[in-house]
This record gives sequence, structure tokens and C-alpha cells, in this order.
Amino acid sequence: MSAVPFTPDLDTHPEVTAFFDAPTNTISYVVKDPHSNACAVIDSVMDIDYAAGRITYDGADAIIAHIEQHQLKLEWLIETHVHADHLSAAPYIQGKLGGRLGIGENITIVQETFGKIFNEGTEFQRDGSQFDRLFKDGDSYQIGGLTAHVMHTPGHTPACMTHVIGDAAFVGDTLFMPDGGSARADFPGGDARTLYRSIQRVLSLPRETRLFMCHDYGPNGRDIQWETTVGEEIDHNIHVGHGTDEDTFVKMREARDATLAMPKLIIPSLQVNMRGGRLPPRDESGKTFLKVPVNGL
Ligand SMILES: [Fe+2]
Repeated sequence: MSAVPFTPDLDTHPEVTAFFDAPTNTISYVVKDPHSNACAVIDSVMDIDYAAGRITYDGADAIIAHIEQHQLKLEWLIETHVHADHLSAAPYIQGKLGGRLGIGENITIVQETFGKIFNEGTEFQRDGSQFDRLFKDGDSYQIGGLTAHVMHTPGHTPACMTHVIGDAAFVGDTLFMPDGGSARADFPGGDARTLYRSIQRVLSLPRETRLFMCHDYGPNGRDIQWETTVGEEIDHNIHVGHGTDEDTFVKMREARDATLAMPKLIIPSLQVNMRGGRLPPRDESGKTFLKVPVNGL
């Protein structure tokens, strides 16, 4: 894995609408073909009040309302990876608007790992069959007339994919804004050295490429932002900019990860997201439960 597995197309400018979820600092996107009404939703959020065990859909409903108001046709629901800090609303949106659900093929590794941690029975399939499409590095798909290219960018998780659509790249948790640096690489299957190499791959896209983040935490009190460029990241990213070498990055990343607490929603997020955004099946009482593995993570 090295070079970008396609020819970048900077002359195509998809229309990108962002939706910020304040409780989880997640940014979801609607990506529209400028020449048709086709669109895709990237990394949607299902709301959870974990203390109350309550699921709601205000964030997803805002995305659905946007798509309906603009009379768009939803063709794809994309997960850049199995998120550990929020629950996906992809199946909820798919149920209302249709479209196909896609994720990286290494979802099977994530399902194997967390299927064990949550002691899921044999009814939990670990073959990615909860999704409509499993992307490989170099794959492409259409959003109307737009061609979306998929690059495998592991390190944060094994299934992380960057989706490059015209001059826009959706990097998931590979990179943060220049003053935010990079995402952690210490979840099961994560690896700082692998993440560095994936980031270099993203940074080998043309400098003008627009980069869209999955998260922003507004470091040092600045307002939330989610869009930058490859050039800005190369010049200013606090973890990988200024020509930072691999060993320096790995040392920094591993030292920093050792200080980070678990994301607040990791336990419900993984159980739902490894199922493609679906809650676990109802038990014999007809109710749905999430598990908490004691000392299991
Ligand atoms: Fe993530």
C-alpha cells in the first residue's frame, strides 16, 4: 500500500453540507453531485442518553429533512470506520430514504475482535453481511455522476477508509484539523506506525484537495471547524506537519495515547456500529439490551 490508487480529479467539486453533533463532536456530511440530485451521507449519528439508556434520532432527522427539502436521492450511506465515540444512524436513515450502506472490508476484523469482547453468540455474523458493500483499497462507486474513490487508511482502526470524491476527501479519523493533530491509535487493531503511513497517503493527494474531518474538539477554545486542505495539513498539522518523521510521530502518538481515557460512548458505540448501526437483537422478553463487559476492554 503506498501511492494513491486512482487519478485525482480536482475539477469536480461535490457540494458538501456538514451537520455537527455537539454531544459527540462528530461531523456528518451530505455529499451531493453538482449535476444531479444524487447524494451520499457520510458518518451519521444516532443520539443516545447512555445514563438513561435512551435512543433518539434528532440528528438523523435533521439530515433526512435536508435531503427531503432539497429533493435529493440518497444513493449511499458511508461509514468511514467503526466509530467508538458515537452510534451510527445509517440503518435508520436507510429505512426512511433507501440507499446502500458501505464500509471497509476489514470490518470483519473489527467484528471478530469485538464479537469476542462482547461475547456475542453465533447469531452475530462476523462476515460484514450487515452492510451492502465492503470496500477494498482502490475501489470506486458512483453518486449520480460523481465517482468516489476509496483508499484504505488504517491505523486508528483496521477498517478505516478515506473516501475521495472529486476535490473533496473524507478522512474519517485519520487526521484532525491542523491544530488538532491526529486521532488515537490505541484501540484494538490500531497502530501508530500504520496510522502515520496512512496519513502520508492522504497527504500525497494534491495540495488543494479539500479535507473533511469526522471530529473536531475546538482546541484552545477556537470555534468548531471541519474543513481544511492537504496543503494546510502538510504545513501546519501539529502531529504530522513540518515534515515530522515516522519515529517521532510514533513516539508522540503512543505517549499521548497512554494518557487518554476511554471515549464515554465506546461500549454502546461498538455494540451498535459493529452491527452496521443496528441495536442488538431483542431478547426473549422482547426488549433490547446493551452489555457492559466488566474489565473487558
Ligand atoms: Fe473513530
